[in-house]
Amino acid sequence: MSVSSLSLGVQGNLPSAIALHANPSVNFADKVAETVALLKQAADEFSPVTQASSLGAEDVVITHLINHNALNIPVFVLETGALHRETLALLERTQAHSVAPVKVYRPSTEKVISFVKKHGQDAMYESLELRKACCQVRKLEPLAEALKGQRAWVTGLRREQSTNRAEVPLIDRADEATKGQIKLNPLANWTWGDVWHYISIHQVDYNPLHDQFFPSIGCAPCTRAISLGEEFRAGRWWWEDEAAKECGLHAKK
Ligand code: ADX
Ligand code: SF4
Repeated sequence: MSVSSLSLGVQGNLPSAIALHANPSVNFADKVAETVALLKQAADEFSPVTQASSLGAEDVVITHLINHNALNIPVFVLETGALHRETLALLERTQAHSVAPVKVYRPSTEKVISFVKKHGQDAMYESLELRKACCQVRKLEPLAEALKGQRAWVTGLRREQSTNRAEVPLIDRADEATKGQIKLNPLANWTWGDVWHYISIHQVDYNPLHDQFFPSIGCAPCTRAISLGEEFRAGRWWWEDEAAKECGLHAKK
């Protein structure tokens, strides 16, 4: 998507995600200040630290804040081999324009081939076990690689996203003792309106799937658009129970 179409707030004749959602909270400026302070603290005190980006709306905001404030926080993307073409195109543009380095982690080709050979291309719909096994190979193993040697990682988790995430802290030390890693969630307090307001005022490039009512974007086979009234993450693993709907990147013990 071009930046000029962002400023118009429309995609063709359809209203864009910006036009639909960009309604900031009254204390938006305070939230941005709190977020920048946490990212600065991360770069100063928790180095080496890296941002995990799915290239979703929250994550493009964080990458923009990192670049805008010249923070030493490199970015990584788990390219599962099953992302939408729109996400892959945004990944290329981000790599071209971000000052902070953007590193891509991919699953082992051998493991993916052997999984698909054994269970088929549509294994994720057959059982929760196979869906989790696919996430293990395509997401969790590359994540472990991306986090090797890191003191902290930054995510785009927000409390508003789901009941599972309702208590996400700004600084999550739950895994510090076992993995030696801190998880930072600088947008924990942001609303969806805050995210889109930021994208709008800074003309941040974003995934055009958001204009098609995909609020939460993961792998193509496991993500669909939602309808008015559906929950934010209703389009993720939509055939599963609400409680199962995490891929393991942010699983709670
Ligand atoms: S997921 O666990 O259901 O996949 P979600 O898509 O909501 O998570 O994203 C939450 C956060 O996890 C993102 O803001 C980002 O920090 C991280 N994340 C999710 N998917 C990826 C990915 N493919 N690459 C890097 N980070 C990711
Ligand atoms: Fe596989 Fe779907 Fe998990 Fe992506 S989200 S790794 S395609 S099961």
